[in-house]
Amino acid sequence: MQKENYTTHQIIGIVLSVILIAAVTFAFVTETARTESVSAKAEKTSLQRGRQLYVDNCVSCHGSRGEGGVGPALNNSVLLKKASNDVLFATITSGRPSTVMPAWGQAYGGAFTDEQVRDIVSFIRAWQPNAPVVQTAVFVPDAPRGASIYENACMVCHGENGKGGTDLNGNPLVAINDRAQLGKHDDTWYQQTIENGRPAKGMPGSSGVLSVNQVSDLIALMGAWRNGETVVSKTTAAQLINSALFSLQQNDGEDALFYLKRAKSIAFGPALSRFDPIINNIPSSQTAALSDLTSLSKDWPVGDAKNGETIFMDACKSCHGDAGQGGVGRKLKPNQFVQDNTNADLFQFLLAGRTGTAMRGWQDRLTESQLADVIAFLRTWQP
Ligand code: HEC
Ligand code: HEC
Ligand code: HEC
Repeated sequence: MQKENYTTHQIIGIVLSVILIAAVTFAFVTETARTESVSAKAEKTSLQRGRQLYVDNCVSCHGSRGEGGVGPALNNSVLLKKASNDVLFATITSGRPSTVMPAWGQAYGGAFTDEQVRDIVSFIRAWQPNAPVVQTAVFVPDAPRGASIYENACMVCHGENGKGGTDLNGNPLVAINDRAQLGKHDDTWYQQTIENGRPAKGMPGSSGVLSVNQVSDLIALMGAWRNGETVVSKTTAAQLINSALFSLQQNDGEDALFYLKRAKSIAFGPALSRFDPIINNIPSSQTAALSDLTSLSKDWPVGDAKNGETIFMDACKSCHGDAGQGGVGRKLKPNQFVQDNTNADLFQFLLAGRTGTAMRGWQDRLTESQLADVIAFLRTWQP
């Protein structure tokens, strides 16, 4: 009986196993790499298609880098953190009814397939790692703003602070700031009363005259009255000066005086001394008054550059640089926009900010006189 020798078989077996394992491992590794490169490639082409679709269709409203314009900033970490891909997909597909944001999905009559919308979403998503924080303004009803709307639209009949007045025929009207009366109705009732008015009794409806937000501000004002608060209006001297100018241009000296005196009572700074001569001239020499008032409205508000520097370093430096060299915000030393605009224009610009950009409005954060000071400071940087 021949002694069987298994050693050779064993060796051959082991060698074959090793080769097999190596082959399988090799196949596995290359396959994974291949799959990975296929999906990376697919992602890259999706991104490229998305970029092209974005450039062709969205830039006009959302800006070439997603910085915003007519539409809000999309290159915005606040939005991108909040909105999942599904939310972006749905927004782009269906648009935003009753805004200018169109519906892009075919299901909503748009031009894009689902895949194309997904391509755009991946293009927008790719901004996220470097997206700046852009706080978009959320509307919050505001009683002081309501008070300034009240002064323009309601005070003629309902009197100062709602304490009562007379209707257009001189009949007395009860107070609308009465706490007991205000407690009888809720906000919806007030909203409807303001919007619809009481035409038969001579109360005009506000629909079409005041915006929904303005009515909300008025309701916030009434809410404050209901709590027994005294509300000081946010009317700026700039607004009152403009109202005075408008009245004088219409040859209504009496209204012009009314506005100008109120403007003077909240005015400040070096231009304060320019009110009295105009007030004195209105009854006797309207032409002189008109020309002085026109130049006052263009120069207003006039501030103090030294204070302005402190405010700038507090509120503006982070984006515009301490030497006005720019950063997230534009270079301001020098700056053509500042040179091309009057104080009055810059004041309006700073109040409102630039929608959809990181430059927000300062209405709620800086007073009129602080803004005047900042403007005076910005002027020191111009040639
Ligand atoms: C004609 C102007 C216009 C065009 C073109 C436009 N948008 Fe918009 N978009 C807007 C406006 C305005 C809004 C804000 C609507 C609102 O007030 O809710 C908006 C909102 C959005 C939002 C929601 C942002 C948020 O803050 O919730 C997304 C996402 C968006 N657009 C993506 C796109 C994409 C992608 C395209 C191109 C395929 C595009 N838009 C084209 C005007 C436009
Ligand atoms: C042209 C004069 C006039 C103007 C302007 C006017 N109102 Fe009136 N308002 C009236 C009259 C008249 C009534 C009815 C009083 C009555 O029913 O006896 C009234 C009634 C109201 C009431 C109901 C009071 C109650 O408790 O029954 C509210 C609230 C009110 N007005 C708010 C406003 C607000 C806010 C504005 C500004 C947007 C405004 N009104 C502008 C004349 C006016
Ligand atoms: C969070 C960042 C940020 C802060 C804070 C900021 N800005 Fe800006 N500002 C910007 C950006 C961004 C722009 C450009 C907006 C655009 O793209 O049109 C800008 C634009 C401006 C412009 C217009 C310049 C031009 O050429 O169009 C002026 C003026 C300005 N800012 C002044 C100020 C002042 C004054 C303050 C402080 C009260 C301030 N900014 C605070 C970001 C900021």
